[in-house]
Amino acid sequence: MDKLEIIVAPDPRLKRRAEAVERVDRDIRRLMDGMLEAMHRANGIGLAAPQVGVLKRVIVVDVSQPEEPPAPLRMANPEIIWASNDLAAGDEGCLSLPEQFGEVVRPQAIHVRFRDENDAIQELAAEGLLAKCIQHEIDHLEGVLFVDHLSSLKRNIILRKLTKQKKLLATG
Ligand code: NI
Repeated sequence: MDKLEIIVAPDPRLKRRAEAVERVDRDIRRLMDGMLEAMHRANGIGLAAPQVGVLKRVIVVDVSQPEEPPAPLRMANPEIIWASNDLAAGDEGCLSLPEQFGEVVRPQAIHVRFRDENDAIQELAAEGLLAKCIQHEIDHLEGVLFVDHLSSLKRNIILRKLTKQKKLLATG
């Protein structure tokens, strides 16, 4: 597979709802591996298929620290089946909004059901950074970016910055 390019906001492809995967076959496994490669290349901890222009419900996550062994998770059709009442606020960034950050409040712990790379249905209990990251990536499958959780004032400041950067890149 060619190297996957990560789409930078604002871009209409990041605002669409992704479609469920019928079956995790070889093509979906290749997509998952390509996404992990693109994510690690960009030093990210999560990536959703719409960010590489594929409108499928596929995400990859790896929140392991640099000194730890890699712990990649490949998920198709991820679905939050339980969320804690406890909320956690934390700064979030996104490979599609480079160098932009904002505080987002989300449930501190979740249970997620998904199809793994072997098409087996799995359930995972996650909390802290992993829970936050999975929720952020599932948002992407609904066309939701972390800036959509911020006030419109903050969102517009970030999107204007990114638009300006894109123009600068386009003109060289
Ligand atoms: Ni993101």
